[in-house]
Amino acid sequence: MQYMTNKIGFIGLGVMGQNLVKNFADKGIEVVVYNRTKEVTESYLSEGVKGVSGAFSIEELIDSLQGPRIIMMMVSSGGVDSINTKLITQKLLQKGDIVVDLGNSNWRLTTSRQKIFEKEGFHFVGCGVSGGSEGALTGPSIMPGGDSYALNELLPLFEKVAAKDFSGRPCVTNVGTASSGHFVKMVHNGIEYAIMQVIAEIYGHLTDNNYTKSEIVDVIDDLNKTKLQSYLLEITSKILQTKKDGNYLINLIDPRAQGKGTGKWTVEAALDLAVPVPSIAASVFQRYISTKNDFIKTSDEIELVVTNDDTPVTTFDMTQALETIFRLIYLQGIELIAQADKEHDWGIDLREVVRIWQGGCIIRSRLLEDILDVFASDELFAGMKEAISLSQQAFTPLPAIRATLDYGLSLTSTLDEMAIIQAQRDYFGQHTYRIKGTQGDHTGGWTE
Ligand code: 6PG
Repeated sequence: MQYMTNKIGFIGLGVMGQNLVKNFADKGIEVVVYNRTKEVTESYLSEGVKGVSGAFSIEELIDSLQGPRIIMMMVSSGGVDSINTKLITQKLLQKGDIVVDLGNSNWRLTTSRQKIFEKEGFHFVGCGVSGGSEGALTGPSIMPGGDSYALNELLPLFEKVAAKDFSGRPCVTNVGTASSGHFVKMVHNGIEYAIMQVIAEIYGHLTDNNYTKSEIVDVIDDLNKTKLQSYLLEITSKILQTKKDGNYLINLIDPRAQGKGTGKWTVEAALDLAVPVPSIAASVFQRYISTKNDFIKTSDEIELVVTNDDTPVTTFDMTQALETIFRLIYLQGIELIAQADKEHDWGIDLREVVRIWQGGCIIRSRLLEDILDVFASDELFAGMKEAISLSQQAFTPLPAIRATLDYGLSLTSTLDEMAIIQAQRDYFGQHTYRIKGTQGDHTGGWTE
């Protein structure tokens, strides 16, 4: 089947959609765009982007493309369902058409949507796109998952617009079958939550120790010259230098942190698959805590049981501490993807996942250069002592840092104390225990 790969349809002209369309057009791919609000389409078309034309209904969009077609959409999850329903119930598609959902859809929904399309002889690809609006324009990281027939058609298109990894290859790969693309993007966001939270905690810790904004910027800029060099540190430095009417903008921002759900879904998936992701969970919960207005009391109202002394706050190597903390966060995400892949048999290549995160996406960092090898070596824990010093010196809440540290300590411990849990479970509920080095379950025998 010969696909029309030099002309595609695109539904949804939010900021990301608009920029991604410009990126495609810039690479010589014609795009017919449709947005449910007519004025948005008109205003976008008035920019006169070469290679972009408009449609004012989904029917018109479909008619303007010769089949088999490639239609991409970047709309809300509810939007995906109403578009799909229209496409299918009104029989607008022809056999072989490929529909790509580029939004942050829940991977479970993607699985059911794929089944509906498959039954009708169409292809539905769930594709994560990371990089924000700027990345969409200049090169995002693209994580498509679905049947390999459709992915093979899409890859050359995506390769044209994707960011580049450390060796200059496009940050896109055939992630795997079914909803693996959206699953991997969801975990990407979970990692994003935790890294953002750790950076916020370091900012809080330094602020509580009377660092000025420019001193914190210096700390962050120095970190960014090391292996920690990353997009999120880069933008944090810029954020902390931003002023509005003579005030630092960061001081004016309401700290109640919001989210659109991908962090929560990551934790839900981790609970289902029994994979520990404490750093991500702590980050999601900290966003929740920050929104509970009634919990918030200023330190003037609370008599602190601990007070800070004059110990300098960075008597440890912050770079080392953060290298280990960030790596342990990536590890949790990778373990979750590996476990999901085992469960669903998606055919994910973890090296490829890490490679396509090297450029374009929000969690890009030099640490991703050799991360899988570091996971298998002692280097992973090289900064544990430094991380402990960091956590001991802070009187600021550091939930993500401390959760990560405990995760690292747990991985390097035999966890003999967990025998207590087994003993208690058996004591009160006869849930049985095993004796080390032997087979078979035991119960009872406790002193009354
Ligand atoms: C990306 C981002 C993007 C979006 C987040 C924000 O990779 O480009 O992850 O998808 O900014 O979804 O998520 P929250 O609103 O949940 O923080």
